[in-house]
Amino acid sequence: MARLIDIKRLKAPVITDPRGNLSFLESHRHIPFEFKRIYYLYDVPGGAQRGGHAHLNLRQFIIAISGSFDIVLDDGFERKRVHLNRSHTGLLLPNMIWRELDNFSSGSVCMVLASEYYEEHDYIRDYRQFVNLARNTNPQQDTQIA
Ligand code: TYD
Repeated sequence: MARLIDIKRLKAPVITDPRGNLSFLESHRHIPFEFKRIYYLYDVPGGAQRGGHAHLNLRQFIIAISGSFDIVLDDGFERKRVHLNRSHTGLLLPNMIWRELDNFSSGSVCMVLASEYYEEHDYIRDYRQFVNLARNTNPQQDTQIA
């Protein structure tokens, strides 16, 4: 079962150019899984919160393609807040990590590369259910949620 330490920051290659920079991401070469789906959040109104769930199996790469936002990450034992604000650097999230996204800057775009097609039954949308599942599969851990 995933812990926060398993979440990795990943920097895409950057081809700098006076005409504008270019970055790219390839399955297996940069992202350690085949991405079947890309989705993106945009036109997020000030103060809105997205996410608020975990995934049973799905893995993701999350990046602030434009602007910035915060992502709160929780493995059922501890949580931390990460600010994403670079077009070339995002987070690799394993399955079974609870996430909440907020503090979106005006005009920001959150892009997600997902290892699976959209499947509602892969979601855990109840936080208590998530904590129980995470803790029951990590029975030796006794860290408290912050
Ligand atoms: P959800 O994943 O809950 O949004 P977020 O985590 O970004 O706040 O999805 C919101 C709605 O959009 C939900 O009704 C399912 C639908 N949806 C799709 O149809 N396909 C997708 O690829 C995604 C991510 C969501």
